[in-house]
Amino acid sequence: MPLSEFPRPLDTATGHDAPEIRVAPPGPMSIAMSERLAHVECPAFGQRRSDRAEKIGVDLGPIVLASGRGSNVYDVDGNRYVDFAAGFGSVLLGHNATSSVRAIEGQAERLMQALGDVYSADCKISLLERLASLHPSGGAKALLTQSGSDAVTAAIKTAMLATKKPGLIAFEGAYHGMGYAALPACGLRESLRAPFGPQLNADVTFAPYPKGDADLDRTLSTVDAQLARGSVGAVLVEPILGRGGCVVPPTKFVAQLCDLAHRYDAVVIADEIWTGLGRSGSLVRSSAVGAAPDILCFGKGLGGGMPISACVGESDVMDAWARTTEVVHTSTHAGHPLACASAIATLDSIRFKQLVTRSRDIGLTFLELLCTHLEGANGFVEARGAGLMIGVELESGARAMRASRALLERGYIVLGGGIRGETLTMTPPLTIGEELLEPFCKTLRNVLDTID
Ligand SMILES: Cc1ncc(COP(=O)(O)O)c(C=O)c1O
Repeated sequence: MPLSEFPRPLDTATGHDAPEIRVAPPGPMSIAMSERLAHVECPAFGQRRSDRAEKIGVDLGPIVLASGRGSNVYDVDGNRYVDFAAGFGSVLLGHNATSSVRAIEGQAERLMQALGDVYSADCKISLLERLASLHPSGGAKALLTQSGSDAVTAAIKTAMLATKKPGLIAFEGAYHGMGYAALPACGLRESLRAPFGPQLNADVTFAPYPKGDADLDRTLSTVDAQLARGSVGAVLVEPILGRGGCVVPPTKFVAQLCDLAHRYDAVVIADEIWTGLGRSGSLVRSSAVGAAPDILCFGKGLGGGMPISACVGESDVMDAWARTTEVVHTSTHAGHPLACASAIATLDSIRFKQLVTRSRDIGLTFLELLCTHLEGANGFVEARGAGLMIGVELESGARAMRASRALLERGYIVLGGGIRGETLTMTPPLTIGEELLEPFCKTLRNVLDTID
């Protein structure tokens, strides 16, 4: 089918419409396309889905997405969903936001590819200036990358150059991406790392991620003991655990971690790939809680749908790249003009539309609604989060998987998170219509009371 014939949302679609399920998902078009997919896509994804389906005894056949607008996505069978997953939290402005589309179209008419680190595009320079200004130190420098994993890789390499120490401290439950620098630091699940173990950095240790004030001392004393080994050059931390289940640590955690690491001349890398740019109700979560990490990583929503990420560090640390000859971290599409233009539009929209404040306020409303509607629901443990990064913990991973499937059948897209997959994770666009929140909470309550 030519691209022009794929369905688009009707002109009357607002982007904040309630779900509309015309045919039980997955509909016949989704099933047919998923069969084609299974023939050509690496089985990593399909196999995982079949294993899970078998475990919980529920059909997890996927839908295939055709189009999106605002908080809605449409599948190839014409079903309309409210998207609480929003591209793994990356759709900050809503699907196909006009500002992103215009920026990409405008840039496409001017220049679609520059020459990376050799001859930069003008828009790349503007973006770097804006990103540098996000760092609390004032005079920061930034390196553009393409995925979150790539930004974390750049940060880990920077720390290595700056400290000459290969050791890394990361946290249980953490997720930093699947590349070979980030993977050994993924405390989320051992099974993600194990098959590749012999090829990964062996000098990585994990500390418990503090869930509350009572855990903080244990975490910091574990980190202290690990730093005392002497080989640790970097501490990598998510200011809020994202995939690990939207765990909000004690407010002073990241600041105290920075103080501790600096005593041992280790670099602190705050992975703001999920929390940053308004998602957690602050532009930079670590700054909002009074911490000053050496390096910040941004990704996900930065590109407004385009793949771009950044490693932004204090000048002293980033200048380590200049103290060594012949080292670069670059790629053909680094600083890609379309992605840079879209990222500038994203940062502008976040500011002009005051989306950080909106995320904080509407996130609070959402959390309160969830707590009210889910109180006493079957298998409900707790709702938590910050801004529009909200987790609903259920008693088991199987229950969360059944709930997310039942939600899909009712027109809501929600992903599972948490170490055991026990947490439903809600990261809708920061522009989501407030009127969509309560119906979702009621549906979730109904789902929890009806599934096994
Ligand atoms: C905190 C965090 N860091 C890094 C990553 C990896 O990003 P990517 O999937 O773009 O490589 C993710 C992805 O979910 C993330 O949540």
